[in-house]
Amino acid sequence: MDLGAMLKGKGVLVTGASSGLGAHFARLAARNGARVVIAARRKAKLEALATELKALGAAGVLVLEMDVGDDAAIRAGFEAIDADGGPVDVVVNNAGVGGDGAAIDMSPADFDSTVQINLRGVWLTATEAARRWRDAKRGGAIINIASILGERVMHHVVPYAATKAAVIQMTKGLALEWARYGIRVNAIAPGYILTDINDAYFATEAGQAMIKRVPMRRLGRADELDGAWLLLATEASSWMTGSVIAVDGGHLVSSL
Ligand SMILES: NC(=O)c1ccc[n+]([C@@H]2O[C@H](COP(=O)([O-])OP(=O)(O)OC[C@H]3O[C@@H](n4cnc5c(N)ncnc54)[C@H](OP(=O)(O)O)[C@@H]3O)[C@@H](O)[C@H]2O)c1
Repeated sequence: MDLGAMLKGKGVLVTGASSGLGAHFARLAARNGARVVIAARRKAKLEALATELKALGAAGVLVLEMDVGDDAAIRAGFEAIDADGGPVDVVVNNAGVGGDGAAIDMSPADFDSTVQINLRGVWLTATEAARRWRDAKRGGAIINIASILGERVMHHVVPYAATKAAVIQMTKGLALEWARYGIRVNAIAPGYILTDINDAYFATEAGQAMIKRVPMRRLGRADELDGAWLLLATEASSWMTGSVIAVDGGHLVSSL
């Protein structure tokens, strides 16, 4: 089964596409001939990526300056997609922030902003897409980018871990409610992959020590998510919904 070929001509929205995993997913979709919608706050980075995606073979590229913490921006983003060729087929809820720090010293504002982006942003983006798919009587696929921190914990990431646990539970609940509309909602729970969100941490001794606790003894590469991502984005997973796929070098099963 050629999963990449199944993406040809499909519309794929990736939030948080201006760097890291989001930019990687956008390139993967473009290389397979999808119409790609890239969204984030840093428009200049998206514009540069758009040029690259066209060269890679994207069937079309739309840049959306869209803050997932802002309801009006999300609505406007989906209206721009409607005006540009209609609903996409796949929505990748990838935008996220780290929100690191000792819980005891965190301000309510720090907590709120992590929830606003990592959790509420997923909810708003998913529901905007689902209403369109339901009204058009067509299905769609949502991929939520959760984290192994949605299932286990470590120091200094409490709001982040709590939002990712909630994203996993939201994935299951939305899958249950939307199966009747042909909308599949699944999640990927990546382990650690070096990006802007964690490069400062992996430059520390604690970060390096943590890599030794991953059963495979290394960080992952973005392309090691491709198999799970292509599976969930295409009809290859037509009977999967509410599933969470961990891709983590065995980190979730590390010894206690
Ligand atoms: N890297 C890992 O090890 C790892 C592991 C598990 C899960 N994840 C998850 O993977 C996703 C991508 O993270 P990454 O590692 O690729 O980090 P990253 O390079 O920092 O990317 C985060 C992306 O989210 C976007 N973003 C942040 N706040 C946003 C907002 N309010 N509205 C719209 N976009 C926003 C950023 O774009 P702008 O700043 O331009 O808006 C950026 O494109 C996150 O959900 C993260 O939690 C990562």
